[in-house]
Amino acid sequence: MGIHSSYLRQCKEFWEVEDPEERMFNRVDVLSGANRTGAKFRERLLKRTEWLLERNDLAEDAYVLEIGCGIGAIIEEMTKRLPGVRFCGVDIASKMLEEAKKRLGESNRVSFRIVEGDNLSAFANESFDFVFACYVFNHIHDASIVKNYLREVERVLKRGAMFRFSVRYRNLETTFANSIGGRVAKLLFRSGILSSYRARWRPSIPVDFNGLIYTLNEIERLVCMSRLILTDIRLDSGSAFITALKT
Ligand SMILES: C[S@@+](CC[C@H](N)C(=O)[O-])C[C@H]1O[C@@H](n2cnc3c(N)ncnc32)[C@H](O)[C@@H]1O
Repeated sequence: MGIHSSYLRQCKEFWEVEDPEERMFNRVDVLSGANRTGAKFRERLLKRTEWLLERNDLAEDAYVLEIGCGIGAIIEEMTKRLPGVRFCGVDIASKMLEEAKKRLGESNRVSFRIVEGDNLSAFANESFDFVFACYVFNHIHDASIVKNYLREVERVLKRGAMFRFSVRYRNLETTFANSIGGRVAKLLFRSGILSSYRARWRPSIPVDFNGLIYTLNEIERLVCMSRLILTDIRLDSGSAFITALKT
């Protein structure tokens, strides 16, 4: 088995959550301890949904794809706000999808599919009016998977349609001091000699919540490589929230 499929198998195991309570919180790492409440979960969900739908004029008969939909909480919220719009949620973990199907059912408006974790081969070119992936790439420790997903999103989006996604964000100014070593590190990152997007997972790295961390330059390059056009990056609590368009 190659490194790539070995990583995806371990990711799948990590996200196949048995505990129903853990699943109800979408296995969100920051929702632990006192933060593990339905109200906190909903607060985060509403914040994400507001951003996803901001300046996003979806036609009444639009078709929307969510990558890493988990238990389908965002799709559920969107179905209430966008009557008529159709949704498909994909995820690497069957347990998450079981829960999503229990909560929302499946109809001609909402469907769910399991994916291998690095491609959208189940979907034809130019199928979707909007694709999004929230707090999914934040957990992926292999840039080739994120790059592949971006290329696949470019393929399945219709022309003029939007992709919104999040990744972990590295602020070079706060990560490195102004010492000589710190300045050299910043220079190496800025010039691309040091770069997260070239990183490949190795079996010695345990699969956990910690995906790769990208600088602004790296995010720009990631999007550019996929041939999508980067239109906005918003920074919030260690994550970057990115909007890109297919022209
Ligand atoms: C923290 S949850 C976020 C769920 C949802 N997007 C949200 O914001 O509420 C991360 C989800 O991404 C899924 N996931 C992780 N790696 C994936 C991959 N390579 N492809 C598809 N889904 C993946 C996990 O199974 C999990 O359901």
